[in-house]
Amino acid sequence: MKKKRKIESPKAKHLKAVPACSQEEAETFLFAEEVYPDVLVESLRAIISTLEEKDSYTHGHSIRVAEFSVQLAEELKLSEMEIREIELSALFHDIGKIGIPDNVLLKPARLTRAEFEIMKSHPVRSGKILEKVSTLRNLVPGIKHHHERYDGFGYPDGLKGENIPLYARIILIADTFDAMTSTRPYRLALDKEVAFEELRKCSGTQFDPVLVEAFIQSFGYKEKKKVVRPSLWKKIA
Ligand SMILES: [Fe+2]
Repeated sequence: MKKKRKIESPKAKHLKAVPACSQEEAETFLFAEEVYPDVLVESLRAIISTLEEKDSYTHGHSIRVAEFSVQLAEELKLSEMEIREIELSALFHDIGKIGIPDNVLLKPARLTRAEFEIMKSHPVRSGKILEKVSTLRNLVPGIKHHHERYDGFGYPDGLKGENIPLYARIILIADTFDAMTSTRPYRLALDKEVAFEELRKCSGTQFDPVLVEAFIQSFGYKEKKKVVRPSLWKKIA
């Protein structure tokens, strides 16, 4: 039987490195309201709205990706701090599309090879924007690598397997699931069950197989419990 792989918490190492305080105190410190003050979230929310104004077909996409990412993070039993970080990372994962020219970003037809190369620069652009905000700098790896594939054929750096930051592996699944279950100009939304099958088909190649199963599992959990945590987004909406 295949050995079950444990998802490692990327924050655990960091918390251990915080000197002279307990894990609980460190969590409280890191999770303190001032880490993500409303003014910061509001400013970034304005930037997301700008992106969604520019690209109306993806309206609401960032928010849904954040919700799906949180759902998966909860299923993985990550800490409150990590769940919050994942939510923020997912909200801002495509923010770099602001720098993509309209004729490429909004092109209704298939992109040429050259145009696709321009489009592929958006995760690095997203990372560069977030890098400028000191309290969000630690989210950059998860955002910059959200198009890496588990088999190493993704971009920007061709990272493979667990070398891809956990947050990026989570966002990729949430992002793809939302794209499949939303109506686009060129196709209708797929049924949730069909989208699950598509995720399973690409499990181990595009996606982390443990995370795919946890994601699918999380829908049963969500439907049973009907518990939704208040999101940062909704808090200031
Ligand atoms: Fe993206």
